[in-house]
Formats: sequence, structure tokens, C-alpha cells
Amino acid sequence: EQRRVIGVADAAALAMAAAERVLARIAENSGRVAICLTGGSSPKQLYQLLATETYRSRIPWQRVHWFIGDERFVPADDPLNNMGLARAAFLDQCAPAANIHPIPTATADPADPDRAASLYEEELRSFYRADTLDRARPLFDLVLMGVGPDGHTASLFPGDPALDETARWVVGVPRANVEPFVPRVTLTLLTLASCREMLFEVAGWPKRAILTRLFAGENLPANRARSTGETIWLVDREALPEDFG
Ligand code: 6PG
Repeated sequence: EQRRVIGVADAAALAMAAAERVLARIAENSGRVAICLTGGSSPKQLYQLLATETYRSRIPWQRVHWFIGDERFVPADDPLNNMGLARAAFLDQCAPAANIHPIPTATADPADPDRAASLYEEELRSFYRADTLDRARPLFDLVLMGVGPDGHTASLFPGDPALDETARWVVGVPRANVEPFVPRVTLTLLTLASCREMLFEVAGWPKRAILTRLFAGENLPANRARSTGETIWLVDREALPEDFG
């Protein structure tokens, strides 16, 4: 499971390249499609693009389901709510409400993030119609990812025991390593790996330092996140380490 790095000019080109990959993955599956979205600021342009007529008209909204890889314990309408950002940028205008699957952090007790995690795990299992992930039948068609300055991805932070979880599909994270410092819920590495394609979006010069470490092979969460299918990193010129292609 090698990673493929694709360089693009800038954040706008990156969003367009990502949108084309979203469409391609949807086109490959004639049945029910599952896409796992990500939080952070990186996917915002992609989300806005998907709502524009060019892309919107090419997506069979009725058969595409939207999940989220991690969520923060903030209100549903807080700008820091990951699914809230995706809803505001495109889902609420385009997708049937029943196809949007948020992690219930807005209504769950922040003191018990494992409770919200197990509710989401139930939802994923029932969508998948099985309790064990089968390599031959990935849970997601596409999983979007981002990388943080400490090498975290989703809400899987360096050194966190959640990284080694193999039984549960979704876990509670009592403490975040970066802002906002609120409890979170995250899918585990094995759950995120169960996809045809895992697509990282990385743009801007502040990301170059962590990319240099990751591409040198450091054992950080973002390096451990690999699809059982394809793993692709879309990186813009500012973020791409100098000695890299
Ligand atoms: C989260 C995200 C997280 C994000 C990275 C990159 O909930 O915090 O899912 O993993 O992708 O922190 O964030 P930016 O896109 O804001 O740089």
C-alpha cells in the first residue's frame, strides 16, 4: 500500500483535483456510495466547489451518503464543527437529509466521548450491514483526510492509545493536541483504511515542515493512515518539501 503524491499549483487547483477524484469514485460505484469527509480548513474550497452547478449537476445525490472522520464537542452550528462546515458549504443545499451522517457530539455528553463514539459506530455498522470489516468490501468509497502541524490526522494524535485500537470502529478522544482543546470523537485507523481511496489534501507553506518529516518516514499518525486500496496525497507547491520532485 504505497502512497502516491500528486503535486498541484495552489489551493484552487487542489480543490479542483480533489473534486474530480470525488466524481470519479462516485462514477465507479453504481450502487450506494459512502464518502467520509474531514474537518479542518483544508477541504473548505472543495466543499464549496461541489455546491457549484458544474459539480452539483454531476453528482447523483440520492445514492451518495456522507460521513465524517472525526468531530469536536462543539455545538452543531459552531464554525469549528466539522460536519457543520460541510453542511453549510454544500450538504444542506445538495444532499437529502437522510444521507448526511454526523457524529452526534452536539447532543452527546462531552464528559463521555466514548458514548458518542459508540453511537456512531452503531450507525456505521448498520450502514455497512456487518460487524466486521471485510477487506474485499470496503466501508467507504472515498475517505478525505488532512494533516495537522504535529502529524495528526482525523483526531488521531501522536502517542494517543486510539492509534492502536483494533476492536472498536470509533473512539472517544478526551484531550486534543491542538486547538480547539475540546474532547473529540474519531474513526480509528482500521476504519478509515476500509476504503477504495484515501485522499489527503495538503496546501500552504505552514504545512511544509510537517510534510518534510512525514515524507522522511517519521512514525506519525498521518503516516500510519493508509487505505487498503489507494492512498493519494494532493499537495500544492507551497506545501511540497523542496527536495521532493
Ligand atoms: C480535525 C481534522 C484534522 C484536520 C487537520 C488539518 O477535526 O481537526 O479532521 O485532522 O484535518 O488538523 O487541519 P487544517 O485543514 O485546518 O489544516
